[in-house]
Formats: sequence, C-alpha cells, structure tokens
Amino acid sequence: MSNPESAVIRIDNENHVFPVRVGTQGDLGIDIGSLRASTKCVTYDDGLANTAACESAVTFIDGEKGILRYRGYPIDQLAESSTFIETAYLIIYGELPTRQQMSAFSQKVLRNANVHESMRHLFEGFPNSSPPMAILSALLNSLGCYYPEMASNNRERDLQTFDEAAALLLSKVRTIAAMSYRMKHGRPFIYPRRDLGYSQNFLHMMFTEPYHEYYPHDDVTKALDLIFLLHADHEQNCSTSTVRMVASGGANLFASVSAGVSALWGPLHGGANMQVMDMLEEIRHDGDNGSRFIEQAKDGKRRLMGFGHRVYKNYDPRAKILKEACTRVLKTLGAEDDPLLEIAHVLEEKAIHDPYFIERKLYPNVDFYSGIILRAIGIPQDMYTVIFAIGRMPGWIAHWKEVAENPKSKIQRPRQIYTGHTERNYQTMRERSNGAAPDHTLEPHA
Ligand code: ACO
Repeated sequence: MSNPESAVIRIDNENHVFPVRVGTQGDLGIDIGSLRASTKCVTYDDGLANTAACESAVTFIDGEKGILRYRGYPIDQLAESSTFIETAYLIIYGELPTRQQMSAFSQKVLRNANVHESMRHLFEGFPNSSPPMAILSALLNSLGCYYPEMASNNRERDLQTFDEAAALLLSKVRTIAAMSYRMKHGRPFIYPRRDLGYSQNFLHMMFTEPYHEYYPHDDVTKALDLIFLLHADHEQNCSTSTVRMVASGGANLFASVSAGVSALWGPLHGGANMQVMDMLEEIRHDGDNGSRFIEQAKDGKRRLMGFGHRVYKNYDPRAKILKEACTRVLKTLGAEDDPLLEIAHVLEEKAIHDPYFIERKLYPNVDFYSGIILRAIGIPQDMYTVIFAIGRMPGWIAHWKEVAENPKSKIQRPRQIYTGHTERNYQTMRERSNGAAPDHTLEPHA
C-alpha cells in the first residue's frame, strides 16, 4: 500500500475524511481525533490491538519480521556490544553517551545505590510471605515520599529534577529488589559496594553473607546484565501503557513506575516467566516431553507459557538471544544437563512445527528462556518478574519523560460502549423486600 494521506469513514451515506499519520518507519495511523465531534461515534477496539495511543520515539518493533530497535539501534547489536547501564542512558536520553556522559551517569547511579536508612523499617511491616512484586510496587511509590522535591506532581518541577530522579530510580529499584529477597529469607540486608558495576552489585546484595562475600563468575554477571538489557523497553506494552496513563494525569515519576510494576505482575505479561518454570517442571513430572501440555493448549484448556505475543508474529528476537545465552551460561556453571533446558528445546521444536501454533504465528517470547538462566544463577522463582521490572525501569522512565515533556500531552481517558441498565428508579429496601418489615441491623436509618 502506498502512503495514503487520508482515510474515509462512511456512516449512513456520509463520508468523513481523516488525516493519516506516518511514522519514520512507515507506520500508518488514521488520526480519528475529530471522529466523535463530527459523527458522535467512537471506535471500538477490544484490547487496543489496533489503536496507537501515542506517538513515541523510543522503541521500534516490526512484529512480522521479528525486529526490535531501541532508539534505532538493533537489539542484537546492543546485546552484543553494550551494557545495561549504557543502554538505559540511550533509552532515556535518546543517544548513546559520550565517555564523559557515561561516566557521569554511572557515577550518579552508583551514588544513589543506598536507600534511606529509615526505609529499612518499611520492610518490617510486610509479612514474610509477601510477593516481592507487591513490596517493589509499594516501596517505589514510598520512595517518592523521601524525595518530595522530585515527586511534586507538578510537571515543570518534576522535570527540573528528572536527571537525579531517573538515576535514583534505576539504582534503588535494584537495591529494593535485593532487600525484598533478603527480608523474605530472614537474612540481613547487604549494602551496595562502590567498586562493583550495576549487575554485579545486585548479585552482591542478593547473595553476599556477613561471613561470605559472593563473587559471581563474569559470565553470570554478563548474563544477568543481558537479561536486564533485553527487557529495557518494549514500546506500548501493558505496563508501559500504564506508566504513560498514570503520567498523563500529571503524576510524578515514582508513582507512575510503581503502577508499572503492578501492571507487569500479571501472568499474561511479566509474570509469564515464573509460569514458564512451573510449566517445565510439570512436564518434567509428566515425563512425556510436553505432548499433553501442547494438546491441552490446542484444546484451549491452558496456554503454553512463554509462547505467543501481541506484536510478534515471528520469533521474538530477544528469545533468540536468550536461547543462545542460556546454553552458554549453563555450560559455564556446569549445568548444561539441566533437564528443564532439554524440555524447553523439545517443547519449542514440537510447538513451532505444529499447525495450531504455525497458523496462529505463536513463537517463543522473551520469557521462554529467561527463567532457566535465572534459576541457574540462583535467583528464586518469585524474583523473576522483579528482575523483569529492574530491566524495564529505563523504558518506563523514558516513556514518563516523553509524556511529561510533551506540551500537547493530554490526560488519557478512553471512551466505552456502555452495556449496562438503562435508567431505572431507586427502590427502598422495603420495596425490594416485597413489603417485609425492615431489619434494623441492616437498616439503622430505615
Ligand atoms: N498457547 C496456546 N494458544 C495461544 C497462546 C499460547 N501461549 N497464545 C495465544 N494463543 C491462541 C489463542 O488461544 C487464540 O486462539 P484462537 O484464535 O483459536 O482463539 C490465538 O492464539 C490468539 O490469541 P490471543 O489471546 O487473541 O492473542 P493476544 O495477542 O491477545 O495474546 C498473549 C498475547 C497474551 C501474550 C498470549 O499469546 C499468551 O497468553 N501467551 C502466554 C503468556 C505469555 O507468555 N505472556 C508473555 C508475553 S511477553 C511479555 O509480556 C513480556
């Protein structure tokens, strides 16, 4: 299709013409901004699968071709040559940093690694059984209370302190995540070290004990850094759209990313990486290499977790990179015989050659192999989605910035097609009870 300049919607023999917006990669969007005013109609798009809610310059995905680029740079190049912190800078500020910018940014992230000492007490209020995602969301919002000058809900003021807030969140999300793990396991909190990089510091805060300093193998640190990098942004997914939605009402960065964590938690989104491991364990227990699971997925009884994607109708490029990394790390750790890796390979082979999955274009997504790597590193399963959240922080920050910096940005407020009752009159309790005497325990004012 050549680039159309306009599109026509015909309603009751009347044509309504709308302009077409064209993205830098040829994306076409019918701009229906004047639709309701001119026709009284709205569009209906369940799950928003056909709706561009914004213009954004952060990430490009071509789901048919399996292409993912952050700020124009292909994901495989970044995975090969960059680091999570450099990529975070790229995503947040739009360009790869110079040496000086990189040094200043890393220093700022490092300087911010500790949380306010009194925040430690907040952890004491949570039961040990608390899911780490609940703690993370609550604590990120609480963090704003310690920095009121950065969380004023006044866009101009919050933008003035943005650089500090961004580095602070990027750094402290990792510290809070590690603290939630330590709390859950009744272990003392471990302070970050000044001489360690981002991912190594996280592993240090997770696994060092007062009597034993933890030193990860370089390949382990690199694998975790890669997982963070591959999760750093993914345009308008469920959690990022949530962050933009909250930001559109003028809420500060801390409140917005805290909402993003909650949105990420669900099993159809970031929670899928935990469910993949349950699935692989279940298959191991079955001992049938996944045939029963695949049949149940085809019968619509359950979903093959870590498979399928709203946007990718091809192999998720992140899954491809993680599949290779998985083999590499497991070899380094002497765990290349991990039965779950073998099951994942067999399951993938079965699924990608099965007509059900071929017809629906269902391929492994980013969550399919990440859990196996995390397990080999020693990260417990209930922390997998937390790891995703740490990785996604640069994306959430960049999208909050896009919303806050756009002078034309509007509050996001979708319409609906109302399907409830039409108008009806209120009836008293006596009328609703067919005239029975009032129950005074229920109706003190009756
Ligand atoms: N297993 C089996 N069938 C599937 C799967 C799956 N994982 N995913 C989609 N399908 C089927 C659906 O049953 C449907 O079949 P039908 O046309 O016969 O009704 C068809 O494929 C289309 O599915 P939708 O639900 O319409 O696709 P949608 O784009 O809404 O969903 C989603 C995408 C949520 C990711 C889905 O593929 C899924 O549930 N996957 C498993 C969970 C998962 O791995 N989530 C992580 C996604 S990546 C991320 O968020 C980081």
